[in-house]
Amino acid sequence: MGPRAWNELSDWLLRVSDRYTSVHVLVDRTTHECVLPRFMAEIDGLADAHILEIEPGEASKELALVEQLALGLRDEGADRGALLIALGGGVVCDLGGLLATLYLRGIDLVLVPTTLLAMVDAAWGGKNAVDSEGTKNLLGAWRPEAPVFADLRALETLPDREWRQGWAELLKQAWIAGGSLWAEVASKGMDHAAFFVAEAAEVKLGVVAEDPFEQGTRRSLLNMGHTVGHAVESLALAADWDLGHGDAVAFGLSIESRILDASGAHGVSARAALRARLEADFDFSAFRSLDPERVWAFMQHDKKKRGGVLRSVWCAEPGEPESVWEVTHSALHQAWDSDAVR
Ligand SMILES: NC(=O)c1ccc[n+]([C@@H]2O[C@H](COP(=O)([O-])OP(=O)(O)OC[C@H]3O[C@@H](n4cnc5c(N)ncnc54)[C@H](O)[C@@H]3O)[C@@H](O)[C@H]2O)c1
Ligand SMILES: [Zn+2]
Repeated sequence: MGPRAWNELSDWLLRVSDRYTSVHVLVDRTTHECVLPRFMAEIDGLADAHILEIEPGEASKELALVEQLALGLRDEGADRGALLIALGGGVVCDLGGLLATLYLRGIDLVLVPTTLLAMVDAAWGGKNAVDSEGTKNLLGAWRPEAPVFADLRALETLPDREWRQGWAELLKQAWIAGGSLWAEVASKGMDHAAFFVAEAAEVKLGVVAEDPFEQGTRRSLLNMGHTVGHAVESLALAADWDLGHGDAVAFGLSIESRILDASGAHGVSARAALRARLEADFDFSAFRSLDPERVWAFMQHDKKKRGGVLRSVWCAEPGEPESVWEVTHSALHQAWDSDAVR
């Protein structure tokens, strides 16, 4: 990661070029327009690369599109020696990851994140998935070895809305880290996001290293705010509401933090500070008109559910070890009501 990561990718490609029979770059329409020309100009050895394009947005994270892209690879003559480069945000990284894992039982993959969200979170840690019938990440695979080249130049064309999406995950990771990172992130607003990209990505890598395949509870910590957030995203997908992942996570952090308050967890004032930061940087008014009963119904598909019990993994205070909190129907309603009153 850094201001010259694409040049490092270029050097790497030159070193390994005999390994690959063809190179394919997956983009969405927007990264095709905004990022690909500059990316191609920086990378030697991509002159013959094939471009695969998808529509931008969460709706593209579906298995049918993975199959369509696999047929595209087949038609371009890709064999087991093909390399896939995913150039885009979390959607392109997730979809590209699954495509590279399934195509001919696996071809090599390189991730080139172009959103703040993908640079601090989605590109790292080797997970990828697609959604099905509105359930987030229902079908996915592990791909821990894929190299990531995160060049900060990609962020130059990123609109404010997308900075905000990444800011939600960055806040979450700063909370997990605690200490000076949390203190700085909590006191500075979203405009300072660019200063924290590398540190926030390091937090994710640290958590992943402690629990790479989510066998314990440590890695589930990266899912703070997502028990409610993913359910809200599912509702949005069903309603064709173009909701950003980070907006949903930010709202989820607000609601889940109140579930901890009601459970008697220590750290009430720290969580109030988190909500103050969230309220300053996000607008939750559209969420508050949602029906919490429908959110509860979608929450039942959460992958952290065990033995019928819905769980949320949080550190009660920034930087503390994680604990598991049960999320009950009444706790959700109570948190929802108190969050709406403020
Ligand atoms: N696999 C994981 O570990 C993991 C972790 C976190 C999030 N995710 C997933 O990531 C997804 C969200 O990622 P996202 O917010 O990056 O979404 P995204 O990929 O849809 O990108 C958001 C928008 O920004 C545009 N864009 C991308 N790069 C740009 C650039 N440089 N300049 C201008 N526009 C640009 C895209 O075209 C898109 O319209 C969700 O599906 C979420 O579930 C995965
Ligand atoms: Zn997320």
